[in-house]
Amino acid sequence: MSQRNAVSVRLAERSYTIGISTNQLLEQLDDVAAQVRPWKHAVLIVDQKVESIGERIRERLESLGVRSDVCLVPSGESSKSVAQIASLWESMLEHRTDRKSVVVAIGGGVIGDLAGFAAASYMRGLRFLQIPTTLLAMVDSSVGGKTGINLPKSKNVIGAFWQPHAVCIDTSVLESLPDREYRSGLAEVVKYGVILDAKLFEYLEANQQAILQRVPQVVQHIVQRSCELKADVVSADERETTGLRAILNYGHTFGHAIEATTDYGRYLHGEAISIGMTMAGQLAVDRNLWTRSELERQTTLLSGLGLPVRLESNVITSRLIEAMRLDKKTEHGVFHLILPTKIGQVESRNDSPVDRIMNAIDCGR
Ligand SMILES: NC(=O)c1ccc[n+]([C@@H]2O[C@H](COP(=O)([O-])OP(=O)(O)OC[C@H]3O[C@@H](n4cnc5c(N)ncnc54)[C@H](O)[C@@H]3O)[C@@H](O)[C@H]2O)c1
Repeated sequence: MSQRNAVSVRLAERSYTIGISTNQLLEQLDDVAAQVRPWKHAVLIVDQKVESIGERIRERLESLGVRSDVCLVPSGESSKSVAQIASLWESMLEHRTDRKSVVVAIGGGVIGDLAGFAAASYMRGLRFLQIPTTLLAMVDSSVGGKTGINLPKSKNVIGAFWQPHAVCIDTSVLESLPDREYRSGLAEVVKYGVILDAKLFEYLEANQQAILQRVPQVVQHIVQRSCELKADVVSADERETTGLRAILNYGHTFGHAIEATTDYGRYLHGEAISIGMTMAGQLAVDRNLWTRSELERQTTLLSGLGLPVRLESNVITSRLIEAMRLDKKTEHGVFHLILPTKIGQVESRNDSPVDRIMNAIDCGR
């Protein structure tokens, strides 16, 4: 399949295009190179597990006359660190990176966040491209301009809004992605269905096997629809000023707390979000905002896609509540939770009593 599609993020002079294709990454790069003029130098920040993709991109850029330096980064969340960003800044200086250079992020969400922050901070801001190589990065983290790193005690606490110049998605790079990582990305796709798009939700229900088998047309469809939905939200509320962008947080206050209380080692991000959406759904049902039958549809879909919906029993509810209080979306101790009212529609609610929240957590075991 060789279809190429484009989705626009509309942010006035910072608008950009998300190219989506299968097996056409280098052609997409040619198009971007034709727009980025003059383009004399690129810094490729590459996850070590996709070094060969980085090499293909380096060769193509060199053939287009772009001097290209590669910074290989160890894979894993621990690379979103102060030490790693400092090492990148030093490498960029050694590679004679200047204000006309372009940073190219090649990897999953870790590399996108790290390289995006390197681009935002080096010489007060360089252009950058996102070339996402995980499903989670394609449907979520490469779009929207949130970049940053972690401190030892807090995730994503240092960062900047810095929009990419373009996003180039080639779904064929997912071939090497392990199944568990692929399924983790699917949790975010289910999220888009629940918060915004009942038709997408029905499509996911109807095509579970094809999704799990990674049928190219089906993967391209779910990536494209997810990007369209995220692009619309970001175009309308780039910095979460109107509250619209907060709906993307469905399941995330629970999910981030699950990740934190299990020391980021037990669950992948999407797995924690899957359990978090189940808890948020249960709370919505308990509060008579949502029907039990729709919650069951959500649970059946998540389980069918191989995602966990139950929290392991040794996670203590009160610790989870404490972790939720530290979430960026919690203000002055008040939980702002996104709760479904029907599939394709959610509300932001700040009036959920703690005992109801604890009950929803305990139901999800
Ligand atoms: N900026 C945002 O808006 C945003 C949104 C959601 C998540 N995030 C961030 O994204 C990160 C998670 O992203 P992720 O799930 O992509 O994790 P990741 O970047 O750690 O990638 C997951 C694993 O897949 C490997 N990998 C990447 N591409 C591969 C490929 N094609 N084949 C084989 N292996 C490959 C990586 O080396 C890693 O081991 C978190 O740090 C999270 O905070 C950011």
